[in-house]
Amino acid sequence: MIKPKPLVAGNWKMNGLRASLNEIIKLNDFLGRSAPKCDVLICPPVTLISSIVQLNLEHVFIGSQDCHTNTNGAHTGDISAEMLRDIGCSHIIIGHSERRVGHGEDNEIVNKKATQAQTVGTTAIICVGETIHEYEAKKTLEVIVSQINSSIPSHATAENTIIAYEPIWAIGSGKVPTVGSVKEVHAVIRKVLVERFGNDGDKINILYGGSVNASNAHTLMSVVNVNGALVGGASLKADDFFNIISVYDQFD
Ligand code: 13P
Repeated sequence: MIKPKPLVAGNWKMNGLRASLNEIIKLNDFLGRSAPKCDVLICPPVTLISSIVQLNLEHVFIGSQDCHTNTNGAHTGDISAEMLRDIGCSHIIIGHSERRVGHGEDNEIVNKKATQAQTVGTTAIICVGETIHEYEAKKTLEVIVSQINSSIPSHATAENTIIAYEPIWAIGSGKVPTVGSVKEVHAVIRKVLVERFGNDGDKINILYGGSVNASNAHTLMSVVNVNGALVGGASLKADDFFNIISVYDQFD
């Protein structure tokens, strides 16, 4: 297969009410006028997904922020990948650090959830990232390699899998790693992906996430093996998010 386009994805986390649909409509209008050189995805809270899908937006993919490890059954309050696919999700974020830390999701659970997402035909955006303690102890590469090896199912392809590297200490903090550090981590992720998945491993998109904004996006997106961004706070407003997406207009 050909290499997928870069992806700029917005993770709205637990933010957004029905009034926020206006931001997505505005974003879709911006994108319609600009023909962006990357794909654009919004992962709103699950409560808004159906309403957004019904808008039939041409330029924005819609995804979810999590799914269950099982296909269906007695799991009160949970939502399966199949249900998300059924209502129109193309992507599912899996193993975000806020789920790994806040909900005790380990690599095994992340692997099962990613398998569910892939099995139903969505693309799993599998998140990895080190804590501040691991970063300070210079264990970043060790942690990332272990997470990549254990979290990614063995049948991963460039179509059903995207990796997001999000240093936990960079999320919502305004701090970003140096370009050298992002380059080093993404190169190691690429190496492991190629070792495990051959040609597909070379094509799997690797996103950077953690305090991405319009001011640092160009620098971060220019780094080798950074194939897009996973954006939290700066994805909530159409103007801010569009300014990040527009960085790709400056690349060949
Ligand atoms: P911020 O962009 O708000 O730092 O969040 C990053 C993130 O966690 C995206 O998944």
